[in-house]
Amino acid sequence: MELAEIMASEIRANGPMPFHRFMELALYHPRFGYYAGTRDPFGHEGDFYTNAQLQPVFGRLVAQQLDRWRRAMGSPDSFTVLELGPGRGETGDEIRRCMPDVNWIPVEHDGCWPDRPVVGAVFCNEFFDALPVDLVERRGNGWIEWRVGLSESGFAWQPGGCHVTRRGLPRIGEGRRIETCERQVAAMERIDSVLAQGWVLAIDYGYTHDEVERAGRFPDGSLMGYYRHRADPDVLVEPGRRDITAHVNFSALEDCGRAAGLEVFPLQTQQAFLLGVGEPDSFAYALAAGTEMRRTALRMLLKSLLFGLGETFRALVMRKG
Ligand SMILES: C[S@@+](CC[C@H](N)C(=O)[O-])C[C@H]1O[C@@H](n2cnc3c(N)ncnc32)[C@H](O)[C@@H]1O
Repeated sequence: MELAEIMASEIRANGPMPFHRFMELALYHPRFGYYAGTRDPFGHEGDFYTNAQLQPVFGRLVAQQLDRWRRAMGSPDSFTVLELGPGRGETGDEIRRCMPDVNWIPVEHDGCWPDRPVVGAVFCNEFFDALPVDLVERRGNGWIEWRVGLSESGFAWQPGGCHVTRRGLPRIGEGRRIETCERQVAAMERIDSVLAQGWVLAIDYGYTHDEVERAGRFPDGSLMGYYRHRADPDVLVEPGRRDITAHVNFSALEDCGRAAGLEVFPLQTQQAFLLGVGEPDSFAYALAAGTEMRRTALRMLLKSLLFGLGETFRALVMRKG
């Protein structure tokens, strides 16, 4: 209630709120934001599982790939893995277990990035989808922005009424909506500036412009709220209590990487990426457990990692230098 009141008074003072501000407060308000709360958002008692929480083999496979890249670079004395938005850090634990001499730097929301460029890799899983976005709708030759206002029953979408220019948007028809990804693009630019030489691996769910333009994915945008493992497209209810995410615009990230001079590899599904990394013993390890019941559970989770999330999630790989 306190967060809703803070938001409502800001709206009363300044007028309808850009959605990125609403999402920023809902997720990251230092006291009442979703990620600031005492309740753990992850896992069975939380709202969602991430890859590494679902099946620990995910972290191990990521670590194997990072180690391959390190060897391909001639095993430099200092190899840094900068992990953005590590959450509970399960993947980082596996990276440090498999590569004990690696310099693993976790950067959480409002955390410090390295103050000088590093050699190594930047890795993130479900980092980009957690960055605040705005929502725009195609009108004529431009876009109107949907903002958050107040109605008798709570928060409500209100058209901003002005035409806005935005970077990196797909070409979509009249009346269709999409999120703008200014912060995702800004994060990509920051990754480029902090990486002197090495690799970028970003795993997330998202889309390409082609899928949105030709296949008509997300006609109303991709914003989604999550609470207790249920998805709800109404992202304006109960701010601070639910997770809010938007699919990642991979075409915009790729363009940004290319503009910075990075080599951009073809976008893969998570399934193709993990199967490409895994060796037979990686999957045997994933299924190793003391009891048949646990082995069955691990088999189901591996299936979900490869064939459920594995087909929805994408792996974006880039190389610098
Ligand atoms: C969906 S969680 C993913 C956590 C973890 N990567 C995993 O796979 O389990 C998103 C994470 O990104 C973090 N995050 C959001 N904005 C961030 C920012 N600007 N800088 C660093 N981390 C951020 C959140 O605090 C949260 O831990």
